Amino acid sequence: MAKHKIGWLPGDGVGRDVLEAAQIVLDKLALNAEYIHGEVGWHYWCTEGNALPERTVEMLKETDACLFGAVTSKPREDAERELLPELQNQGLAYQSAILQLRQKFDLHTNIRPCKAYPGNPLNYRSDIDLVVFRENTECLYAGVEFHPLPQEVIRTIAEHHGNAQKYVEMAPEDVAVSLRFITRQRCQSIAQQAFEYARHNGYASVTVVEKPNVTRETSGMMIREARRAAKRYSEVNFYEANIDHLCMWLLKNPQSYAVLVTTNLFGDIVSKMCVQLVGGLGFGASANIGDSYGLFEPIHGSAPRLAGKYQVNPIGIIRAVVMMLEYLHENDMARTLENAIATVLMEGRVRTQDMGGEASTIDIAKAIAERI
Ligand code: IPM
Ligand code: MN
Repeated sequence: MAKHKIGWLPGDGVGRDVLEAAQIVLDKLALNAEYIHGEVGWHYWCTEGNALPERTVEMLKETDACLFGAVTSKPREDAERELLPELQNQGLAYQSAILQLRQKFDLHTNIRPCKAYPGNPLNYRSDIDLVVFRENTECLYAGVEFHPLPQEVIRTIAEHHGNAQKYVEMAPEDVAVSLRFITRQRCQSIAQQAFEYARHNGYASVTVVEKPNVTRETSGMMIREARRAAKRYSEVNFYEANIDHLCMWLLKNPQSYAVLVTTNLFGDIVSKMCVQLVGGLGFGASANIGDSYGLFEPIHGSAPRLAGKYQVNPIGIIRAVVMMLEYLHENDMARTLENAIATVLMEGRVRTQDMGGEASTIDIAKAIAERI
């Protein structure tokens, strides 16, 4: 029996291209694993009304970790139009497969390292080394939204909060509401993990990124829990920054920051900013980790127009493989693969189009495999 069981979810669009690249490096590493392919993506929404069929969820429950490519999503009206005729008008609502996976497996911790590799011509500066810790299940991603806004909901809110009164008088279809849920336990957990990571990997600081001058209660809770965690890590500097100012400062002095910790939506936004500083979407990798499961993905989407063209940069997915190997305690293999990526980027002979070269997704994977 293989040592590891890995769920393999290419999804659609360029998700398939990049998982082919991932397989090339994993085969070269000779990881002792069984790869179990699962069905997920736009096709299953159109034909079954669910981008993440239940059989795929059941299959993943039998695995230790999962590698995920990308899945297309479209606005509500477009999604409904592409459903098979017999599935239409049944009240089916499109839900992103990756968001469903994060919720179903309670993958509460999202880690996005953004490091400037020497030799990458797309680096904004050469001395950037940022790691974003993003809470991954709550905040505006809790999925509690209203439109039209039911009268009894807004009336109850207005009874508890005078600021809501003006919305009671509006027509329900003229108001939409998304609720931002933040819990103390998840704030504690993400803050603790950010500090622990900084300590173990020698990062000088942790910056909590929020907006407590406006969202006083939710951001306030995150800040307070980060302050509490900071006391236990006196050797790590602790900074507090408002999200809007941090975006400016990140462009000005990205080298001054190290680990960033925040809630879900701010983490989504700030991590894209960080990744752009070190080469853009092709370089971003994301670990989604829960108490008993880990899912690893590149941060680029499915880019349907590029599907099957093998043009996208596979560094993101291959960095996701590095994080998956660490999660599986295959630390030697993780280091070997990380060094191989760094060598290929340093040499600069094989580059995809985003880096000004002509190499394909597969060429890069093969060049990295050769360095293993
Ligand atoms: C990401 C993505 C997802 C998110 C989308 C696809 C729902 O942008 O992983 O950053 O917003 O979390
Ligand atoms: Mn995002």
